[in-house]
Amino acid sequence: MCGIVGYVGERDALPILLEGLKRLEYRGYDSSGVALPVRGRLKVHKKAGKIREMERTLPQGLSGTSGIAHTRWATHGAPTDLNAHPHVSNDGRIAVVHNGIIENYAALKTMLQQDGCVFASETDTEVFAHLIAKFYRDDLESAVRNAIHYIKGTYGIAVVASDRPDEVVCARNGSPIVLGIGEKEMFVASDVTAIIAHTQQVIYLADGDVAVLHADSYRTTNADAERVDKDVQEVDWRIEEIEKGDFPHFMLKEIHEQRESIERCFRGRVIPEFGTTRLGGLNLDRREFFDIQRLKMLACGTSFHAALVASYLFENLARVPCQVEVASEFRYKNPIIDKNTLYFAISQSGETADTLAALREIQRKGGRVLGVVNVVGSTIARESDGGIYIRSGPEIAVASTKAFTSQIVALFLFAVNIGRMRDMSPALGRHLVEELAAIPGKVGLILERAGEVERLARKYLDSRYVLFLGRGVSYPVALEGALKLKEISYIHAEGLPAAEMKHGPIALINEETPVVFVAPRDELFEKTLSNMEEVRARKGRILAITNEHPTDRRVEALAEDVIYVPDTHEALSPLLTVIPLQLFSYHAAVRLGRDVDQPRNLAKSVTVE
Ligand code: M6R
Repeated sequence: MCGIVGYVGERDALPILLEGLKRLEYRGYDSSGVALPVRGRLKVHKKAGKIREMERTLPQGLSGTSGIAHTRWATHGAPTDLNAHPHVSNDGRIAVVHNGIIENYAALKTMLQQDGCVFASETDTEVFAHLIAKFYRDDLESAVRNAIHYIKGTYGIAVVASDRPDEVVCARNGSPIVLGIGEKEMFVASDVTAIIAHTQQVIYLADGDVAVLHADSYRTTNADAERVDKDVQEVDWRIEEIEKGDFPHFMLKEIHEQRESIERCFRGRVIPEFGTTRLGGLNLDRREFFDIQRLKMLACGTSFHAALVASYLFENLARVPCQVEVASEFRYKNPIIDKNTLYFAISQSGETADTLAALREIQRKGGRVLGVVNVVGSTIARESDGGIYIRSGPEIAVASTKAFTSQIVALFLFAVNIGRMRDMSPALGRHLVEELAAIPGKVGLILERAGEVERLARKYLDSRYVLFLGRGVSYPVALEGALKLKEISYIHAEGLPAAEMKHGPIALINEETPVVFVAPRDELFEKTLSNMEEVRARKGRILAITNEHPTDRRVEALAEDVIYVPDTHEALSPLLTVIPLQLFSYHAAVRLGRDVDQPRNLAKSVTVE
């Protein structure tokens, strides 16, 4: 959730660190800071608030050829100047930036205080600085290694010492660290977006690894201090993909990118003549495929909603029983892991702590987990037994949009694949993949009419709360519509199965309540219409997302406003119905003056439990 960036090379480190921090700001953003070893001393500057606050108050003339920087999302201690990272040892020789949580920090703090250390902050991270200093003579790597022996918890760290301006040491356990290899320069970051403006050659550290970086060399060692030569990987994200271009916000840019991102997800993975799909990377042979009796998907937030959509596809189309569970709850049941169940961990970032913990629990008990992930090289991608990359390109806005639609496409491809190995007819398979191929064009048509949604977002802006209702595959879309609205506009919203309304929430309906119905003309359409009648009878204000019909005007008669989406196979309708909801939330948030890309209290990847 917090972001780390570090540099050692021949250039001025400060602009590189600040630029990297700004690219990481979407991860967490309540304070930030930098530390540079300059002429035998550590120059440290940190500030609560946005990075521009820290930048604005930087001392004149701060310059050096190495340094570390951090953007923080508070866990231990409020977002204040003192609690911002880097944290520095009492002798001023060691500075540390840290992502993760030190579970035994209270015990370590007491121990260090007994040694005479004085703590300046309320953070858990500060123990790292004092511990490393305690062991530091003239070998920073050994000091870091000694310190991490004491730590229980998760960390991704980068460390500099006042008397070693040519060196940055970093280490990882449970919180991502990526190294970037440049020409006579090295980078370190918690996320590749911080460094791809400089290099696309990267190394992902594994848990237990320690790396020592110099301008023209690096060394990586594992938890046993043995030298390991790690694979250098090429990141295929382009710099334009992490910039806003002509869009005012990343979220709007990412909504508009869905035409391409959906297409990229299925490109090369469909075999139209056989009405099936091909997915490399699953690591399942035919026997194992046939032995699958059930599917279980674990995810959080928007990814959980994508998994719910997919569960309808698996049961309805592929005829494989499928359950979905919120990852954060899963392992506290002491879950029963079944060898004929195939598990999925679904995560845009591939770093969500709850999803990762579920994955590890399944594997510990002998289960097999496939990852459905966007970020290549992320922890879930690396630790799962196989998987599908969703290829949506970097998603920077905190509110997930294009990842949601690509997750659905990736899982749809799997559903067709497993379905065709079972009872799905070639004709149905062909029809489904043809319908999928037409989706990007239909997304384009919806986006062309985005202005209409903007007008409606303005109209419903004053609502205290909004209900989102849907049935079947449209129920998770309703959940997603509600999540989008509350996370970026702060208007309370609730998503419900349309039929559940009469079991309680109907009490909320009056002439001021907007109710958004996700009502494509599928086999549940008639039933959804009855639910609209129930809302109308209580004077609720209906906004319906549906398909146009040449003669049937019943939705128009009940709804105050209607947004039309093109027709498609009902299994694919979420890819279309969700787009007006994303736009609706976006425009409501903009109109209310919210910080759309960085909504309050939220971070892009939630690496704490
Ligand atoms: O990276 P993940 O897909 O694992 O993230 C899961 C949730 O934290 C994420 O979807 C969150 O709900 C988004 N802010 C939703 O827009």
